[in-house]
Amino acid sequence: MTQRIAILISGRGSNMEAIVRACAAEGWPARVVAVVANRPDAAGLAFAAAHGIATAVVDHKAHGPGTEGREAFDAALASVLDGFAPDLVVLAGFMRILGARFVRRFEGRLLNIHPSLLPAFPGLHTHRRALEAGCKVAGATVHFVTPELDHGPIVMQSVVPVLPGDDEPALAARVLATEHLIYPRSVRWFVQGRLSLEGGVVRQRDGEPQLLRAGG
Ligand code: GRF
Repeated sequence: MTQRIAILISGRGSNMEAIVRACAAEGWPARVVAVVANRPDAAGLAFAAAHGIATAVVDHKAHGPGTEGREAFDAALASVLDGFAPDLVVLAGFMRILGARFVRRFEGRLLNIHPSLLPAFPGLHTHRRALEAGCKVAGATVHFVTPELDHGPIVMQSVVPVLPGDDEPALAARVLATEHLIYPRSVRWFVQGRLSLEGGVVRQRDGEPQLLRAGG
């Protein structure tokens, strides 16, 4: 049966684009049925629309401040998503923190990508923090979302070296190139039913590597 994928973005949407392209090129048993942004100016919306994918905006600014505003935003987002009946919800550069209620509603079918080797560096400015810490490797993590921020069972990670002379943009670009590989692969595994969760650890049923080493 064709799996229905909804993708949430906040900006550029290059990870979303990589998933849309891989889904079409590799003939996944899936379809990207919606791209939803929390900002009306999210650049990725244009790509989605140009590819015949339904788009929607749930503007976080329209839902007021504080806890009440966050909960109202989450509820509005959940109801828009429900309208697309997704089997999988993919957070791709989605820069809003989703509350526990939202997460539980989509638990087990909610994926995120984070540009660090979790559990190191949850939150923002991951590349800057990795450089400041003198890390010799950096990377990205695809994981199932749990109510705790940038936490949850790890589907796949990519590792790249931190090279002498790296600045934040150089390291971010090296990591992003790997995101475009590991996120489509992880989503494909999900829609093909190749992932299982055992004691909080994600296994790829066919034993395909859940680690990508890249960039030298
Ligand atoms: C990616 O590095 C993602 O991991 C991070 O924000 C960036 C989004 O890029 N959370 P894009 O919108 O997918 O191009």
